[in-house]
Amino acid sequence: MLRSGLVAAVMTAMSAGAAFALDGGDAAKGEQVFKQCMTCHRIGPEAKNAVGPVLTGVVGRPTGTYPGFAYSELNKHAGEAGLVWTEDNIFAYLPDPNAFLKKFLTDKGKADQATGSTKMVFKLANEQQRKDVIAYLKTFSTEKK
Ligand code: HEC
Repeated sequence: MLRSGLVAAVMTAMSAGAAFALDGGDAAKGEQVFKQCMTCHRIGPEAKNAVGPVLTGVVGRPTGTYPGFAYSELNKHAGEAGLVWTEDNIFAYLPDPNAFLKKFLTDKGKADQATGSTKMVFKLANEQQRKDVIAYLKTFSTEKK
């Protein structure tokens, strides 16, 4: 009993922390942050795949599914294993995309697929910039949560 109570308390604290982490994103500032992403990504109604896939509608989209983009095996496998680009997942992914995808597959019991590397070589560590850029991405997504 004691142990399950503790686990529940920790899980509550973790989900509260995750929700807290995405408060306070500023889409206008995120548009400035997104300039770094534009080396490889386009967003908006007219966007076309470039070095990276179109990010229009990415919030709420299953990983590795934008039509016509040649994704890495690692990214495709994560999508097949059920990864969806929720705000929390994008937040956790940006500081180290490779590590995030490999951990996701390993946690799903698919360590055999957690090999190779993603083509997304960019890393964004700054927490506020991550919140802001996600707020900006959300303005191009039908999923507003
Ligand atoms: C140097 C080029 C480059 C930069 C800069 C870059 N990305 Fe990427 N990104 C990619 C590539 C290439 C992929 C495809 C990954 C794969 O196939 O492994 C990708 C994939 C993604 C995905 C997964 C998309 C999907 O459909 O599964 C997200 C989300 C993403 N990038 C967000 C961002 C954000 C936000 C930024 C800016 C903070 C950014 N990227 C900057 C190249 C880049």
